[in-house]
Amino acid sequence: MLFKKNKHQRLIPEKVAGNSCFSWLAFSYKYFAITLTFNKIFAIRLQFHIDLELRLRFMIPIYNQNNSLSNCRLGENIVKTLTDCYELSSGVKIPCIGFGTWQAKNGDMAVSSVKEALKCGYRHIDTAAGYGNEESVGIAVKESGVAREDIFITSKLQNDMHGYENTMEAFKQTMKNLDMDYLDLYLIHWPNPVKYRDQWQEANAGTWKAFEELHKAGLIRAIGVSNFQPHHFDALMQTAAIQPMVNQIRLCPGDTQDNVVDYCRKHSILLEAYSPLGVGRIFEVPQMQSLAQKYGKSIAQICVRWSLERGYLPLPKSITPERIRENADVFDFRISPEDVQTIAGLKGCCGYSADPDTITW
Ligand SMILES: NC(=O)c1ccc[n+]([C@@H]2O[C@H](COP(=O)([O-])OP(=O)(O)OC[C@H]3O[C@@H](n4cnc5c(N)ncnc54)[C@H](OP(=O)(O)O)[C@@H]3O)[C@@H](O)[C@H]2O)c1
Repeated sequence: MLFKKNKHQRLIPEKVAGNSCFSWLAFSYKYFAITLTFNKIFAIRLQFHIDLELRLRFMIPIYNQNNSLSNCRLGENIVKTLTDCYELSSGVKIPCIGFGTWQAKNGDMAVSSVKEALKCGYRHIDTAAGYGNEESVGIAVKESGVAREDIFITSKLQNDMHGYENTMEAFKQTMKNLDMDYLDLYLIHWPNPVKYRDQWQEANAGTWKAFEELHKAGLIRAIGVSNFQPHHFDALMQTAAIQPMVNQIRLCPGDTQDNVVDYCRKHSILLEAYSPLGVGRIFEVPQMQSLAQKYGKSIAQICVRWSLERGYLPLPKSITPERIRENADVFDFRISPEDVQTIAGLKGCCGYSADPDTITW
């Protein structure tokens, strides 16, 4: 469009240079309409397409601090439903039983099991980049009809993506896979993967810096670790500004990792219990069969309840609808302190956790 100067020496479009009041009005209206449309398109794009860089630069928080998880109550042993929560050291609330998804294959298997879990009332889903099923978790959440803010989603950083830059990349990919714009909990999956064996401390320091920035930017509600032992925490805390809020470790009958548990309790780090059914091995243990008879519950229910009695947050996994329901039906009984001890003492009945400093992955 060509411009001309008017009598006040201002540049105006040639079309309205005739000074007719109507031409001015018509031009202003057209310009206003175009601007409005542009703003609308821009706003929609901003709303629906995550621009991580932009959000990071301007620190735009995405999640609502007062998320609507209902009936949140504090503390161990008082949880009474799947939506009752533990509270992390940062104040974030986390539903007391998580639904495990390791080995639930991406596609129908993962989508249908996560949807079934949400239908049964689970409000906490545990996935990981390494499980290859983040995409299915995202689809299941959308198709479930449960509001995103009512579900707690955890994912984990894969082992070959440690360090600051890699972590930022990996997080972006995880959010794309899930097709979500914030994560509830992000964990370092393993402290000392084989790729970083010579420099795991520096790699974790870089990763943690990225975690802290993503948390401060409002993209992750809580940050934590998995498979960490006290010496991994001590190394991390040399440079960390925020202490990990969660440690997800293998905790099941006979594998109680007492030194890690003591450390985490002392530092108010919530313990999540992975493989709470010993990856299925618990069903062969005779002592568990008699305990199941004694309480009139299944072995799986005894294991999940035992985790809660110990103050852990269990993450049972199943792809079988009846088992998914069964594993959540644990709020109508208690296990006596003596039996809690007996179960803890079944040393090695389901094997032991891998040593995080010698793993080959
Ligand atoms: N951070 C880590 O490094 C890490 C490591 C391992 C696991 N995890 C997390 O923890 C979750 C749980 O651990 P996990 O998957 O190792 O094993 P798990 O939950 O201890 O056991 C799962 C196995 O038990 C079977 N099962 C479940 N409920 C049952 C029931 N009521 N009766 C009979 N069998 C039942 C399942 O079979 P079906 O599925 O065929 O029903 C599956 O074979 C994982 O899915 C993952 O989210 C984290």
